[in-house]
Amino acid sequence: MSTTIPDLADVLAARERISPYLRPTALYGYPALDALTGARLHVKHENHQPVGAFKVRGGVNLVSQLSAQDRDRGVAAASTGNHGQSIAYAANLFGVRATVFVPENANAVKVESMRALGADIVFYGRDFDDAREHCEKQAIEHGYRYIHSGNEPGLIAGVATYTLEILEERADTEVIVVPVGGGSGAAGACIVAKAVRPSIEVIGVQSAAAPAAFRSWQAGELVEDSTHTLAEGLATRTAFDLPQRILRQLLDDFVLVSDAALTEATRTMIEKTRNMVEPAGAAALAAVLADPGRFAGRQVTVVCSGGNISPAQLTALWAAPAN
Ligand SMILES: Cc1ncc(COP(=O)(O)O)c(C=O)c1O
Repeated sequence: MSTTIPDLADVLAARERISPYLRPTALYGYPALDALTGARLHVKHENHQPVGAFKVRGGVNLVSQLSAQDRDRGVAAASTGNHGQSIAYAANLFGVRATVFVPENANAVKVESMRALGADIVFYGRDFDDAREHCEKQAIEHGYRYIHSGNEPGLIAGVATYTLEILEERADTEVIVVPVGGGSGAAGACIVAKAVRPSIEVIGVQSAAAPAAFRSWQAGELVEDSTHTLAEGLATRTAFDLPQRILRQLLDDFVLVSDAALTEATRTMIEKTRNMVEPAGAAALAAVLADPGRFAGRQVTVVCSGGNISPAQLTALWAAPAN
């Protein structure tokens, strides 16, 4: 596995590769969110992707480049759902067999989407890391091409393309706020933003109930932690080497938000933008709402990284008490 750090040229090449399959997503401002936050806020609508999350940019970029031998082997991925959907979508596009390992309590909407895309689903363990460890063993046993959700330059270069779109559309962008799980999205945002204009501030956001990437970034080494966040897109107990190396070099700041703040921000995002948003997809807005003074009057893009909320999650979210 190559773990070379991608650069802007890799991101531009990724854009050429994915453009026949994925359209640029919308970047919309909402006066109601400006009024609420005091910032000049723009929402990058990665929830509008065909699988409802930004990850598909990476999946299409990576799978489109697989050797004939790897395509014949089939691909395997472990995921709480959106990385899996990305790989299932890309595998379907390029005629490759995909097996996705998900935790037993995986979001049913994401699982059904992967099935509909033709992926084989294996349920395993109580969380993402259980499923990941099982997937890694099975990939060796069955000879699959394993696609890690973070340690893949092709995935990072692919997801970085949304930041190209943000900066092309809004050259006046001052801050980009990105939800972090393993860190591929934030790593991609840093690569592009720092190459285009180093003064653009890139801020990562993780749940305080799953802070492994945050703590690893702070410590300067990979550390493990627990995860009990409701935002499954951000839920990992371990941190990943390649995104962490990039974040250590290039990320300006990393903040944590509580799950109560994620709940509130998800409701706000759904109400004010009239979009389906999953809790991970509202993490960037939660970070802005938690620290309004920092963002007031500035041109801020929050990445709405995904919209795959299940009916059960939506019902529970609306029943949760307000902050
Ligand atoms: C909706 C959503 N947002 C954010 C993330 C975190 O992305 P990354 O692992 O690239 O940090 C994920 C990961 O699956 C996700 O599904």
